[in-house]
Amino acid sequence: AGDVVRTDVLVVGAGPAGLTAAAFLAEYGVDAITVTKYPSTAPTPRAHITNQRTVEVLRDLGIEDRVREIAMPADLMGTNVWATSFAGVELARMMTWGEGLDRRSEYAAASPCDMCNAPQNVLEPVILAAARERKADIRFNTELIDIKQDDEGVRATLRRRDDGTEYTVEARYVIGADGGNSTVARVLDFAMEGEAGIGSAFTVWIEADLTRFAKHRPGALFWVSPPGTNVLWSPWTTIVPHTEWMALFLMHDLLPADTSDEAVAEIVRAGIGDPDVEFKIKHIGQWQVNHVVAERYRKGRVFLAGDAAHRHPPSNGLGSNTSIQDSYNLAWKLALVLRGDAGEELLDSYHDERKPVGRQVIDRAIKSLAQLQPLSETIGLAYGQTPEQGWAIIDELFAPGEAGAARRAKLLDAVQLVNYQLNAHGVELGQRYTSTAVADDGTPFPEYTRDPELHYHPTTHPGAHLPHVRLQHGTEYVSTLDLVGHGRFTVLTGVDGAAWTEAAAAVSRETGLTIEARTIGMRAEYDDVLGEWTRIREFDDDGCLLVRPDRHVAWRSRNSVDDPVETLRGVLASVLGTP
Ligand code: FDA
Repeated sequence: AGDVVRTDVLVVGAGPAGLTAAAFLAEYGVDAITVTKYPSTAPTPRAHITNQRTVEVLRDLGIEDRVREIAMPADLMGTNVWATSFAGVELARMMTWGEGLDRRSEYAAASPCDMCNAPQNVLEPVILAAARERKADIRFNTELIDIKQDDEGVRATLRRRDDGTEYTVEARYVIGADGGNSTVARVLDFAMEGEAGIGSAFTVWIEADLTRFAKHRPGALFWVSPPGTNVLWSPWTTIVPHTEWMALFLMHDLLPADTSDEAVAEIVRAGIGDPDVEFKIKHIGQWQVNHVVAERYRKGRVFLAGDAAHRHPPSNGLGSNTSIQDSYNLAWKLALVLRGDAGEELLDSYHDERKPVGRQVIDRAIKSLAQLQPLSETIGLAYGQTPEQGWAIIDELFAPGEAGAARRAKLLDAVQLVNYQLNAHGVELGQRYTSTAVADDGTPFPEYTRDPELHYHPTTHPGAHLPHVRLQHGTEYVSTLDLVGHGRFTVLTGVDGAAWTEAAAAVSRETGLTIEARTIGMRAEYDDVLGEWTRIREFDDDGCLLVRPDRHVAWRSRNSVDDPVETLRGVLASVLGTP
């Protein structure tokens, strides 16, 4: 029906995954069209925790500062409180998102970027602006209604929602970034693993000045459980400190599935805990709890990214983070294949690398929900209690005597478990890829020395993310991460690595592919003033790393080799799948 438009990549969806894909594809000079059925970016806050890896991705796009301007900074995210209500009794507290004194240096050492709290309704316009500045073609009010593919390409039928006209886009590749109800996944029959619809919840966006209850203990999350009500542990997210919130309520059997304004106002009032505080409900949204991941992320010429590929609860705050990181992984691969610099099989590595991450994320999110159980049980508030029963249980928790002391000790243990949700630095940063887009260096990954979910273990092993180290360049500090990325491959070598630098230039000339080379070491161009890189790099002064455009290590050599040009040429061909 209607006109036919041709493009190299059609991106379906303009949420975190689609917008990131649109921005990077435009940055890399790929001809692409991005469509979204809605008239605007997300109108409500939704996901908000923006982890260090994601901020690094946005830094590569040059918009870290803009994100920082619209986001709540890390130092306001840290305090996590469980209480009967904002005005009520505090029951437990922990420091989260790396803001505890025991974790702060670990987070700071791992990345040049701080975490931030950037609700989707303010983050998406920043990524959209970046995409448009790069001349991305983004079409709102445009719904994908059908999609077919064959060996030659993909045909998508799109409908303009303003006037109902339909047209066809013929694309060489499609990214289905169309969220948890993905049309792309459904029409093309992508199989899903796991369980869908395991629960249902609703979010309430609230305007309420709670400064007096929150300013001395600012955090991304505040959990309330008013005794004797149907609300058990509702997490409230700070959207604007301390005046806008997004509360999540579970649609539980005991809580009549009543999301009328009056019913919601009642539980919001209970959560605030002070009847004199005025509030306004800005929006109520429904939300399905799922535990699914796509069996395959690629089917022919079509890829799934973001919630289209993985759907899970918001625990660990990995929804939009993983979505943005999916697209960062895929965009450079599509660019190189379309340019003819890489073989088709490079695109298979997207599934091989990102599916395990998706699997980990959905399982972690579900496990994290279960790990709240001991805390909830120790505190003792439960559905079906009267207010008197609830308060008696809390009184005992903080009373002198053996019973209270035993419960308080248990409570401290139960809180520790929540680190797997709110301080899971290893889950946030520790992705290690195994695929054809990573070349084996003949060594195993180093063993984890601490809990791999809680702690990030930097390594330069092929497949790992390049570790961050501060280097001095002139009088400025720069991060190792800033020497790489920007859509190109980079060779990082040491003070005895001139042969690698020359080899990079030679292979670059030969292939037409940009390969930068940087020397890092004591008194080198990038000065390892503190010796931190030398300690962490796992190769010698005459060795090198080959780093991919997404900052993952493609390959490394501990030392020099007989023919560095031949070696580098071979490694690159194997990573890119070229003859
Ligand atoms: P996302 O769903 O953001 O975007 C999908 C895009 O596809 C939209 O632009 C849409 O218009 C478009 N689209 C869909 N079908 C289309 C079609 N047929 N044709 C054209 N376009 C189409 N996560 C979290 O970690 N913490 C949280 O607290 C929450 N809270 C939350 C609340 C609510 C109400 C929702 C809906 C979601 C959350 N999430 C969340 C999940 C989080 O929002 C989610 O992980 C990310 O938005 C995923 O980003 P995507 O870009 O993959 O999809």
